[in-house]
Amino acid sequence: MRSLVLLFVACLALPAQSVTFNKDIAPIVYNNCSACHRPGEAAPFSLLSYSDAAKHGPTISGAVASRFMPPWKADAASYEYRDQRRLTDAQISLIQTWVKQGMPEGAVKDRTSTPTFASGWRLGEPDLIVEMPAAYHVPAEGADIYRNIALPLGLSDDKWITAIEMRPTARAAVHHVLYFADPNGKAHEKTDGAEPGFGGMRAGGATVALGGWAVGAQPHFYPEGLALKVPKGADLVMQYHFHPTGKPLEEKAQIGLYFAKKAPERQMISIQLPPVYSLFEGLDIQPGDKDYVVKDSYVLPAPIDAVGVSAHAHYLGKLLKMTATLPSGEVKTLLAISDWDFAWQDRYFFKDFVALPKGTRLDAEVHWDNSANNPRNPSSPPQHVEWGEQSKDEMGSVTLIAVPRSADDLPVLQSDIRKRTTTSATVRVMKDPKFALKIRALLAQ
Ligand code: HEC
Repeated sequence: MRSLVLLFVACLALPAQSVTFNKDIAPIVYNNCSACHRPGEAAPFSLLSYSDAAKHGPTISGAVASRFMPPWKADAASYEYRDQRRLTDAQISLIQTWVKQGMPEGAVKDRTSTPTFASGWRLGEPDLIVEMPAAYHVPAEGADIYRNIALPLGLSDDKWITAIEMRPTARAAVHHVLYFADPNGKAHEKTDGAEPGFGGMRAGGATVALGGWAVGAQPHFYPEGLALKVPKGADLVMQYHFHPTGKPLEEKAQIGLYFAKKAPERQMISIQLPPVYSLFEGLDIQPGDKDYVVKDSYVLPAPIDAVGVSAHAHYLGKLLKMTATLPSGEVKTLLAISDWDFAWQDRYFFKDFVALPKGTRLDAEVHWDNSANNPRNPSSPPQHVEWGEQSKDEMGSVTLIAVPRSADDLPVLQSDIRKRTTTSATVRVMKDPKFALKIRALLAQ
């Protein structure tokens, strides 16, 4: 007892804890920052040593306190995500204390070795490697570029993709890439100038989303042997977001595809709310409108295991959210992004599958801010905005990626989801007879 009291008194008497780079800060920075903050990656400076960190100390302190860094847009939800890139409050306050205390380096004996990063294919030798036939030239200066580059895969059979890994050559200028499959194998014929590919924020055609790559992301296999089907004859479409770096660069990526030996036992489905990125919602966002909202709900006709969740909107997107109300009445948050940023689109996979029973109600909402106060508003002054594929148009939805609990439920879910989309389209056409013409014009683009 006496020694406990002594210990307590001794603690009180200690000066404020001294935080050093070697002991406290290096492990945080090397594990959470260096993958992007190193030569050849898209971050603007390296964070690979004491002097790197000390040079940027105050900016780092601000960037982590505002949670601008590390980039991770999902708020804490009811379930944990895999590879969550989010500092704890304790880590943030350690960094702040370190900066306030003058950024001491600390003892040599505490030094952590500089992290190393593997070169070559990180997932092992791919089953198929495709390479862009010609380079896309990323200019030194100018606005961000969205470019769709399609490659024929030359598949003579349907395949199940378990992972995609890409090796960009203009790594420093590649902010992120979304992958799609064009089942018609036509996307590679589309051009709009001398450079490979075509512009715009959608890959065009009846495409199937296959995930993506973002700066600093590690390639992964889908969890638990899951895979996505790519039909024979399909093109792979890569939708690039380039961010010019001050130097002209050439992008001529190699893409490695990994295939499952056989069709997976459970097939993934997507439940998108509202369907087709709100195409049927009649988006009519007035200039100055600070909070334009669409909402959508869906009651599960069969039990599922939720695998992950993703969201999409353009620059005016502000808040995107999906909750699940269980049959017991309990409400769970699957995804909440309260500060949407088009530049950091991610898919959030749950650490463990989330069991959602039949009768669970999914609720999604998408909010847009078309006021001049939205720093990401691409129009100044704000303009009237409708649904569209260009960067000044809008769209938005939240998508749940899931597997049916049992294979028998797959057709039930698929047909129910399809029926829902058709119904929304029909309702829209009844409200707005010109809508059918608009859709036809969009599809013809
Ligand atoms: C996923 C990649 C990635 C990770 C991980 C990452 N950064 Fe960054 N960081 C960037 C990029 C890219 C930028 C440039 C800003 C932009 O394009 O939005 C940046 C910019 C910054 C800036 C400049 C901010 C400003 O105000 O100009 C700081 C400071 C920073 N990062 C610190 C960190 C720290 C500290 C960590 C780890 C705790 C970290 N970053 C993790 C990619 C990353």
